[in-house]
Amino acid sequence: MREDIITEDAAIREQELLRQFQADDEVYLTQFAAEYQLVAGKLGAPRLLHSLGVAQTAARLAQKYGADDKKAYLAGLCHDIAKELPRDEQLTLLLRSPLAGDEDVLAHKVLWHAPAGAVLLGDFAAEYPRLDEEIQQSCLWHTLGKPQMTVLEQLVFVADLIEPGRDFPDLAHIRAAAEESLTAGVAACMYGAIHFLEVQQRFIHPLAFQGYEYYKNLL
Ligand SMILES: [Fe+2]
Ligand SMILES: [Fe+2]
Repeated sequence: MREDIITEDAAIREQELLRQFQADDEVYLTQFAAEYQLVAGKLGAPRLLHSLGVAQTAARLAQKYGADDKKAYLAGLCHDIAKELPRDEQLTLLLRSPLAGDEDVLAHKVLWHAPAGAVLLGDFAAEYPRLDEEIQQSCLWHTLGKPQMTVLEQLVFVADLIEPGRDFPDLAHIRAAAEESLTAGVAACMYGAIHFLEVQQRFIHPLAFQGYEYYKNLL
């Protein structure tokens, strides 16, 4: 019974948040109605809300840093499109991606959804032409990060970590860095991710260290 109430409360809260995003982001969601339906059909409510949070944050940062806010919104919306696919489907997609030969990625299932999502977006691009190469690449690198990311890749990478629905220690510091400059935001996100994984004694991909070194040296 208690669980039913909690579940019901969560569902009501999700609907409220969804309505809020739909009102706040009307200009984007009207323009990307087809892509929104595509993503909404693949994600449960909590991850859809996260994706909308990433889209909104990426668009806001794009405006702040003189990039294409519409493209940033779409990239944010789509970045986790493969996250709730069954693992075997993620693997099938991953094996068609440029990271298919990366033993470290293959060995860590948590890293599969980004390359899988990029391939999936590529498959949808014939029907949804706005899901172009740049959008696919921003999905590909949103978890690992790397040195020399495009501005769009950086926007999605940062927005994924600082969107309004996130809550973890050090977040205030990372959010502040992202307001200072995009480079500072990327470096802070990379440092935060490495630190978090170190504390948890979890695997850290070599690209995470390379990315951090690269962006730290730009500051
Ligand atoms: Fe993700
Ligand atoms: Fe995400």
